[in-house]
Amino acid sequence: MNGIKIVGTGYAAPSKIVTNDDLAKIVETNDEWITSRTGISRRRHMAEGETFTSITVQAARKALESSGIPADSIGACIVATLTPDTLVPSAACLLQRELGLPMDIPCFDLNAACTGFLYALHTMECLLAVSERKYGLVIGAENLSRIINWEDRGTCILFGDGAGAAVVESRAEWNSISAVLGCHGDGQILRVPGVETAERSLISMEGTKVFKFAVEAVPYCMDQVLEKTGLTIDDVDFFVFHQANARIIDLVVRKYHIPQEKYYKNIAEYGNTSAASIPLVIGELHEMGKVGHGSRVLVVGFGGGLTWGGALVEFA
Ligand code: UT7
Repeated sequence: MNGIKIVGTGYAAPSKIVTNDDLAKIVETNDEWITSRTGISRRRHMAEGETFTSITVQAARKALESSGIPADSIGACIVATLTPDTLVPSAACLLQRELGLPMDIPCFDLNAACTGFLYALHTMECLLAVSERKYGLVIGAENLSRIINWEDRGTCILFGDGAGAAVVESRAEWNSISAVLGCHGDGQILRVPGVETAERSLISMEGTKVFKFAVEAVPYCMDQVLEKTGLTIDDVDFFVFHQANARIIDLVVRKYHIPQEKYYKNIAEYGNTSAASIPLVIGELHEMGKVGHGSRVLVVGFGGGLTWGGALVEFA
């Protein structure tokens, strides 16, 4: 099967910066607790006039610019999210209009919570393998500030808004990203109610249970991807982890002896942005020149569902 590689990236975050001290004015918490338990110092929330669609369009435009690929060459557009502005039309349909993408291509949203960007990359790889157009636009974006429960100090301090995008190219001679994806249906541990109930659509999470799940899921995904690709830790140029809690990342890098220059945390600045977290990291790393032509990046995500995923994502 054809494989995909990244040819351009972009990211955007809303302008309102919410500090830990700001949150301490709303719920009983403090900067010391939040920083030491999560690694989060600030997060971005939508300011007046900013919307999910506006920041998603910004991120996607930057990715197209960075790739040099014209909008009419895009063969599919997938937005991984659980917080689009509207359920219908999908965020991807709105992007099709805003960016002038071709009309005869699939554009749709995908929800796999925080693992969404990896699910979307894998789906894009499959779609482009049978498409005449060989470029795809993959986005992870969230407006989580809209679904925060401000009466729950255990979750309201965690989440932020943002968007990250990648333009990928598909070629027959390239290896697959070797995605490993999975889920085990759990209805309670991490939940955002939908249309089936009169409950408000606010996030609830049993954090400690998710933490335990994550510290097993991340090594599982890494081992599976390394086995599938036949690579070792040393063959990988960079490791990108979903930014849910700095302590989860610290445990994993210690377990695998991953040197500091091969991984990155931006959770201090953005908090947990769910599906946007991985493409925000990739976008920042690309902009800083830490990843680029030829880089082999092992990407791992986990989250509500409970879902998990890993892949070896290369830059063209
Ligand atoms: O992206 C989706 C995946 N999500 C995750 O991966 C999240 C994984 N989980 C976590 O990151 C952590 O479990 C949290 C950061 C959410 C919570 O940290 P924790 O170390 O598991 O704390 P806890 O929930 O066990 O709470 C410990 C204490 C409790 O007080 P008592 O019962 O010991 O007196 C909480 O009430 O900390 C209290 N607490 C707080 N205190 C100050 C909970 N939230 C806060 C707060 N400020 N914001």
